[in-house]
Amino acid sequence: MRVAPGGTIGILGGGQLGRMLAQAAADLQFRTLIFCPEENSPASQVADDTIIAAYKDEAALRNFAGRCDVITYEFENIPLQTVNFLTADRPGRPQGANGREVSVQPAAEALRTGQNRLTEKTFLNGIGVPTAPFAAIQLLDDLIAEVPLLGFPCVLKTQRGGYDGKGQAMIRSADDIGTAHRDLMGQPAIVEGFIEFTRELSIICARGTNGAIAFFPLVENEHRHHILHKTTAPAPNVSEALARRAEDMARRIAEGLDYVGILAVELFETVDGALLVNEIAPRVHNSGHWSIEGAKTSQFENHIRAICGLPLGPVDPVRPSVMTNLIGDDVDDLSAWQNRDDAVIHLYGKDEVRAGRKMGHVTEVV
Ligand SMILES: Nc1ncnc2c1ncn2[C@@H]1O[C@H](COP(=O)(O)OP(=O)(O)O)[C@@H](O)[C@H]1O
Ligand SMILES: [Mg+2]
Repeated sequence: MRVAPGGTIGILGGGQLGRMLAQAAADLQFRTLIFCPEENSPASQVADDTIIAAYKDEAALRNFAGRCDVITYEFENIPLQTVNFLTADRPGRPQGANGREVSVQPAAEALRTGQNRLTEKTFLNGIGVPTAPFAAIQLLDDLIAEVPLLGFPCVLKTQRGGYDGKGQAMIRSADDIGTAHRDLMGQPAIVEGFIEFTRELSIICARGTNGAIAFFPLVENEHRHHILHKTTAPAPNVSEALARRAEDMARRIAEGLDYVGILAVELFETVDGALLVNEIAPRVHNSGHWSIEGAKTSQFENHIRAICGLPLGPVDPVRPSVMTNLIGDDVDDLSAWQNRDDAVIHLYGKDEVRAGRKMGHVTEVV
């Protein structure tokens, strides 16, 4: 279905990704309605309107749906129940602004897959996309049995709810097994072999309602304390063959999920040239922020285009760019960036500075 200019896009989630989606939507002459539990969220500061309610508040969701022509989400930890309530095929299903059933894009299946590391890695391996070796963990005994098969070091991760390295524990020796398991407090987990990568890359693709697909160039990502620090776009030293391999993986994932919108795929490149998928994100992604200044069409604009049934815009890079996140108190002194005419500063409107919190980013255009 095509959403006409003037139509309303609902966004579940009020973070910076929602903020930049709302900005892109406004440029395309769409209205945006944010649905999130927090007041004064980064997204609602720039959107047309906000419904502040819990994600499981069915009356609020029904009201939200009734005002939207299409709905999307800006982070993968919204409850699956929320999207199921909006879209499940049953009597009394919420209606959209046009009086028809409301559509959520990307669809629930992408969210279901992306929000659980076990489901995600099982899906990836099932479609022939390689990942780190992994095993499902519930009890301490499972971990004690699996660790020797993977070897040291390995990483224990909660199946759900993790982001920016939260919900993860490294296991470097047998002594770490007990503490790592205890730290996760009984949450279902997976343990993964630690990949000695030479670098981390990611590929972002846009897929339209008609199945058309466009690949942003591979980018190189540097993490600090498990949080993205810097993205170099396009990634240096990428052979044609490597680019094709990454695109092939992203295509298989997007087609496997019958995906509509922006999909991000985080990758490890290993010493022997292998490419493994670390995780996928069914949404716009931090490693695609460079595209606002650096590509013909940004990831945010292409997400809006895709979910509104518009043709995708060209994704070619227009200039090399380097994106640096402003984390925690990085944001307290911006003078070094402000004095440069090749740097564009984006601030997310979060009033409380906390360690590890993404406060903004800067894109250097080179
Ligand atoms: N199996 C692994 N091997 C090596 N490094 C890893 C592994 N898993 C995670 N990491 C490191 O931790 C970062 C964050 O982990 P990730 O699984 O992407 O979780 P998050 O959801 O927090 O982004 C990765 O980008 C990578 O730098
Ligand atoms: Mg990650």
